[in-house]
Amino acid sequence: MIKTETIQTIFETARVEEVVGDFVSLRKRGANYLGLCPFHDEKTPSFSVSPSKGIYKCFGCGKAGNSVKFVMEHEHYSYPEALKWLAKKYNIEIEEEQMSPERQQELDEKESMFALNGFISKYFKNNLLKSSEGKTIGLSYLKERGFLESTIAKFEIGYAMDSWNDYSDFAEKNGYKKAVIVKTGLGIEKDHRLIDRFKGRIMFPIHNLTGKVIGFGGRILSSTKTAAKYLNSPESEIYLKSKVLYGIYFARTEMVKLDNCYLVEGYTDVVSLHQNGILNVVASSGTSLTVDQIKLIKRFTLNITILYDGDPAGIKASFRGIDLILAQGMNVKIVLFPEGEDPDSYARSHRTSEIEEYITKQAKDFIGFKTNLLLDETKGDPNARTKLIKEIVQTISHIPDGIGRTVFIQECSSIMNVPEQTLMNQLNKVLRQNLDKQKQSPDISGVKIADEKAFRSEQLRFDPLELKPLEEEVIKLMLLYGSDSFLLKLDEEESEQFNVIDFVLDELDNDAIKFDDRDLNNILDELRKLETGYDYRQQSFINHPDSHISETVINLITDQYELSNNWEKNKIFVKSGKEILKDYVMSTVLSLKSKHVARKLRKISEAMKTASDQAELSLLQMEFHELKKYRP
Ligand code: CTP
Ligand code: MN
Repeated sequence: MIKTETIQTIFETARVEEVVGDFVSLRKRGANYLGLCPFHDEKTPSFSVSPSKGIYKCFGCGKAGNSVKFVMEHEHYSYPEALKWLAKKYNIEIEEEQMSPERQQELDEKESMFALNGFISKYFKNNLLKSSEGKTIGLSYLKERGFLESTIAKFEIGYAMDSWNDYSDFAEKNGYKKAVIVKTGLGIEKDHRLIDRFKGRIMFPIHNLTGKVIGFGGRILSSTKTAAKYLNSPESEIYLKSKVLYGIYFARTEMVKLDNCYLVEGYTDVVSLHQNGILNVVASSGTSLTVDQIKLIKRFTLNITILYDGDPAGIKASFRGIDLILAQGMNVKIVLFPEGEDPDSYARSHRTSEIEEYITKQAKDFIGFKTNLLLDETKGDPNARTKLIKEIVQTISHIPDGIGRTVFIQECSSIMNVPEQTLMNQLNKVLRQNLDKQKQSPDISGVKIADEKAFRSEQLRFDPLELKPLEEEVIKLMLLYGSDSFLLKLDEEESEQFNVIDFVLDELDNDAIKFDDRDLNNILDELRKLETGYDYRQQSFINHPDSHISETVINLITDQYELSNNWEKNKIFVKSGKEILKDYVMSTVLSLKSKHVARKLRKISEAMKTASDQAELSLLQMEFHELKKYRP
């Protein structure tokens, strides 16, 4: 782990305008710099860099951060990688420090799993190329399928011997612990003995973003056996299936360069396309797409082109996954391969230029594709047609951007020959329904208590999800106006000057309020650590060593609406700045407290449902009415 002091030095040295300036051409505009955002496509600059705050913010796409965050986002680096990159740029020597024994052990365990996977992957490779069983059975199969040795080498494809205890034994003899062999899923423990999970299979190692082997997919060779065609490593500490895409390590750079990602189904589709010079391709490995996988792609590009085998049933099954992609604000295109072909077989029988041409010609935007496909099935059936309209509008409603939705409404209106306005009305209805769904309170029907009506109205007003915006507001006002102070009347004669941070912390502590949101609560704890008085520095939060904290802070303080704007404008006309600050602080803290009272009320109402006798019930009722007084 890099020493805190070193991180501090890096943050202090790496000026945001210099770091960003390495990648973006910036022009001075007042106290700030302005340029074209590197994270989205734009013609007029909306990417602003503030040297005094040490942050950047794009008012077009909303990306914001400090110099380290910039390097992470732009170069797709992890936090330590970005720090090391900056240290190199500024000739800062990296000092590392010892970790706690628990953390060390956890890391050691993961490291040994990575090490074992890497070791066995090499072993599989060696089997394939050097052993006679591997050569005659494995290698000849791969060659027959048209895979070149260079491709096999690139993807580190190997072969697991057809034996009960081959590589597990080999790993143990080479000092790998039984527990680690079992944890990776390579070995299975049976009657205190280890047996191999993979036997007589072609082995595809699965790599993470940094190229480490996290698991394997094993293909069976004979088609006669009843065993599954592919056997995969089980989920483990280092192989979280919902977050992994096969091929991402080999595709990441090309995905950024071409600003597009081809999504296929299988291992061999990825490998074959690579062999044909098409490198921006990853596979979902036959399972339905998850939000985490989509977000993984989103780190590199906003454009996904899904390459399908031409099987209508399979395509329909994947529609839900595609709605998830749309909901991420990404663009989805679909390419259908001819009946009976998958990208692998097509790539084998065509030249690179032909594949590229096919993909470009066939690519259809998802919504148009879905509309056309379903439209075919509704011919002459008005009911089915109505259902289709609803379904398509539902899909469009997932697109977060209003302009995008309008574009697709127009397109579908012309495909289906339905007036735009009809679709718009339906869309608005769905959007409203979705909003209502989010607001809905939990069902309390069946509660037999005197105050049911009161509870019901309390519950409708109370939505636990709404706590976060208020918590954010509280943190934001401390971050922005932390060391400012205001005058508060204690009684007729006496007033006292309060510092914002101290006042808010006192108020929260008085009612023992903790934040629901973990990141915000961590920031709160950090603020608590400051000494009473005026030693608050916003910069130390912007450049906090915990990247979660710094990211949250930066996002909070770069909201487009900062109080200061209104405050500066208003103070000339209406109230003094301090008056407004006081009102802002008081009302925010009070709203938060009031939500917490509402939560307590709900807890009491829950308890009343299960109260065991009349005495307990009356006690709870009393408590309820007492608390209710505090609800403004
Ligand atoms: N898959 C799996 N387990 C299975 C079958 C399939 O995990 N029993 C996954 C694999 O990742 C596979 C993908 O689903 O690559 C697609 O399956 P399929 O189309 O059946 O295989 P192909 O990729 O076409 O493999 P091949 O060309 O070797 O037949
Ligand atoms: Mn195939």
